[in-house]
Amino acid sequence: MENNSLKHLAIIMDGNGRYAKNMGKPRFVGHQLGMENVENITLACDELGIKVLTLYAFSTENWARPKEEVAFLMNLPVKFFNKFMPTLMKNNVRVKIMGFLDQLPEKTYQVVQDAMEQTRNNTGLVLNFAFNYGSRKEIVAATQAIAQKVADHELQVSDIDEELLSRNMLTGDLGDLSDPDLLIRTSGEERLSNFLLWQLAYTEFAFTDKLWPEFTKEDLTKIVQDFQKRHRRFGGLDK
Ligand code: IPE
Ligand code: IPE
Ligand code: MG
Repeated sequence: MENNSLKHLAIIMDGNGRYAKNMGKPRFVGHQLGMENVENITLACDELGIKVLTLYAFSTENWARPKEEVAFLMNLPVKFFNKFMPTLMKNNVRVKIMGFLDQLPEKTYQVVQDAMEQTRNNTGLVLNFAFNYGSRKEIVAATQAIAQKVADHELQVSDIDEELLSRNMLTGDLGDLSDPDLLIRTSGEERLSNFLLWQLAYTEFAFTDKLWPEFTKEDLTKIVQDFQKRHRRFGGLDK
């Protein structure tokens, strides 16, 4: 019997709009409920002993949505941290926001910086939001940073290896925990939508038809139990 340990879980939180539509409500209602579900699932992950929870909250492609929806999504971190910061502090959660943060509206930028600053010394679960995140952009930025060091004679071409690439990704500061063990996508879609292309090389995938606002702790626990039984071979053979 396998018993895989789950240290880093990543979730593509999808289906907020469809959830609202099913209720006959405007899309933003789904985003609001989706935001509230982040708290439940974060606490459930903490109970399950997970060390890093990475949540895809806004992609570099999501700017293509109507400007009212984008504005609502950009304001969600403000609401989220206003509402849940005491709970995060109480549970020793450290917040990390990973993405192209300099493109965020000023207020959103301030709020996410404050959340990281306030929780900086917490030693429990790392709650890592991918916000204005895009994996191809991330890889391009890492490549540019490394190329610049070569141009400045701080690095040799032969110094470039997988480890160096990993450290230059936006997950680089997570060290040994930078690659997720398990990826969940809700809402029935089975694609990556430009999420963690480098980091997911050997990650296990799980898809569920549940929409994000209705995804529960019980759904999560079932998926995690299934994950623990899987045979992860990493190119080798079963023991
Ligand atoms: C996920 O829900 C949240 C974001 C992408 C910001 P969606 O807004 O994509 O919901 P659907 O996929 O349209 O139902
Ligand atoms: C992926 O969901 C991004 C987030 C969940 C933040 P989308 O709803 O944007 O993905 P596509 O457009 O269906 O691929
Ligand atoms: Mg979607």
